[in-house]
Amino acid sequence: MGRRRAGRGLGFLPVLFLAVLAACSEPASPPSPTLAGTDGVAQFLDKHWQQPLAPQGAAPPHFTRQEAALDPASCGSCHVQQFQDWSSALHARAMGPGVMGQLMNMEAQAREEHQGCIRCHAPLAEQADGLVAAISRPNARKGAALHEQGLVCAACHVRGHRRFGPERRDGSAPKPEDQLPHGGWQASAAFADSRFCAGCHQFAADGFALNGKLLENTYEEWRASPYAGEGKHCQSCHMPDRRHLWRGIHDPEMVRGGVSIGVSPPRVEAGAVRAALTLRNTGTGHHFPTYVTPKVVVEIFQEDQAARAVAGTRREYVIARQVPLDLSREIADTRLAAGAQAALDYAVPRQQRAANLVYRVRVEPDAFYTGLYRSLIADGAGKGEAMIRRALADSLASHYTLFEERRALGAAVK
Ligand code: HEC
Ligand code: HEC
Ligand code: HEC
Ligand code: HEC
Ligand code: HEC
Repeated sequence: MGRRRAGRGLGFLPVLFLAVLAACSEPASPPSPTLAGTDGVAQFLDKHWQQPLAPQGAAPPHFTRQEAALDPASCGSCHVQQFQDWSSALHARAMGPGVMGQLMNMEAQAREEHQGCIRCHAPLAEQADGLVAAISRPNARKGAALHEQGLVCAACHVRGHRRFGPERRDGSAPKPEDQLPHGGWQASAAFADSRFCAGCHQFAADGFALNGKLLENTYEEWRASPYAGEGKHCQSCHMPDRRHLWRGIHDPEMVRGGVSIGVSPPRVEAGAVRAALTLRNTGTGHHFPTYVTPKVVVEIFQEDQAARAVAGTRREYVIARQVPLDLSREIADTRLAAGAQAALDYAVPRQQRAANLVYRVRVEPDAFYTGLYRSLIADGAGKGEAMIRRALADSLASHYTLFEERRALGAAVK
């Protein structure tokens, strides 16, 4: 299917794709004056996340092949735990079919355009080269190339073949005489700091915004939350005990830990069922959820003896920052800042057949992308079509039920 359109340039791409492209491509100058401060961490990070990243160059001659290798499996031959954790995380899948399917439609040599995506999804210079080769030869064997492995260890830890990391847990750093593999490493406090993550999880202050709010604003949301004052950084929640997990909206347990859900039992008054379901952001260090992409549906409905929903009794409250696919405006923003609460108040006539009242919270982590992929496919997704179809299936498979409880209605009748 994809070949049909292979000869065309970017011209056939739907407008909404280009809009997303523009929105995602804001250069990451520092998001706030504090971030640009002159302390050591800011200076380190300016250099560490320069755009685009410089090639590593030749490895020192005394390095073994294993020490010179940049692929995560090589790091993992010594750093076993980090490799296992990272492999299970979304950072390892940051060049999945939804991203690659869109990149495949760019010109092979359009490196600047690629950077608009891969500066966050696969930032090493060596990955940028691999991507150019892959777009030039779309039918080549896939699976092992560095760019396909997404946000790899070396993207965060290796510059010019030198390793950078946090201090040891006992606060020490290597000494020159230590004779460690890969020539030891240089310690920096930046690794324990939220600003380390901000380069990719926060748009610059002059970046793409809707209704006066940046499209990506996680770092600033965190800074306005009580966690910043308590010294709880992104890493405290997303890398507990330094684990490389980065669980987020796709992980039900992580999300359960970030919110508190309350149920008020059903009362039947004058033939109407009254109840409420509340959700408070009690442990998410920024807005719940922080991006425009997920959708959280809080719902209550009546159900019969056979556990079938009774038609017409469902009421819902959506927690999301809703935007149209072309990102032309903000439709609604019902996200919850740290500490804030949403409530669904239910008052619906009791149906004869109803046996139970069901309280449920559902999560669609990739709701925006589901719509985007459908639209790309409808308009012709070009060389990336097979990948976009896979991404659509993945986005639908990521739905889950965060919370569900039933209360008998019979007992509630006065
Ligand atoms: C031959 C084994 C080996 C390989 C391969 C290896 N490392 Fe290491 N690495 C070590 C050892 C040993 C240390 C020193 C640990 C210490 O002194 O506490 C270390 C230290 C580090 C540190 C500093 C840890 C800290 O406490 O801050 C980082 C970061 C690191 N390596 C990243 C990597 C990355 C990324 C790769 C792959 C690109 C890699 N390493 C490949 C063995 C290896
Ligand atoms: C080089 C850019 C980059 C850096 C630096 C970075 N991230 Fe990410 N992060 C991404 C990208 C891209 C994704 C999306 C991966 C995907 O699904 O394609 C992501 C995904 C995530 C997710 C999962 C979101 C979900 O939908 O469930 C979490 C959590 C996360 N990052 C936290 C962090 C934290 C904490 C740090 C700092 C220690 C950090 N990231 C640093 C680029 C980055
Ligand atoms: C500023 C960093 C940044 C840039 C630049 C960026 N992304 Fe992302 N992208 C993210 C983060 C963070 C996530 C995870 C949060 C989310 O799902 O919205 C993500 C998620 C995605 C996803 C859904 C997850 C997946 O892996 O399928 C797709 C698709 C995607 N990006 C495509 C792109 C494309 C295409 C570009 C370039 C036009 C781009 N991104 C540019 C940071 C970025
Ligand atoms: C998104 C950036 C990112 C990626 C990708 C990443 N790390 Fe890390 N790594 C960090 C940060 C940040 C810390 C420090 C966390 C802290 O201090 O809480 C860290 C800490 C470490 C440490 C010290 C751990 C300890 O217990 O003291 C090692 C070793 C390490 N990383 C190796 C790796 C390896 C190997 C990979 C790939 C399999 C990898 N990292 C991928 C950001 C990253
Ligand atoms: C107090 C704990 C805590 C802190 C601090 C925290 N997070 Fe989160 N984060 C969570 C929880 C819980 C979730 C899952 C709920 C959700 O998705 O909002 C989450 C979700 C996410 C997601 C998934 C996407 C989404 O739409 O929600 C990303 C990305 C993320 N965090 C990045 C960060 C970054 C970057 C920082 C630092 C600036 C940070 N987090 C600080 C707890 C925390």
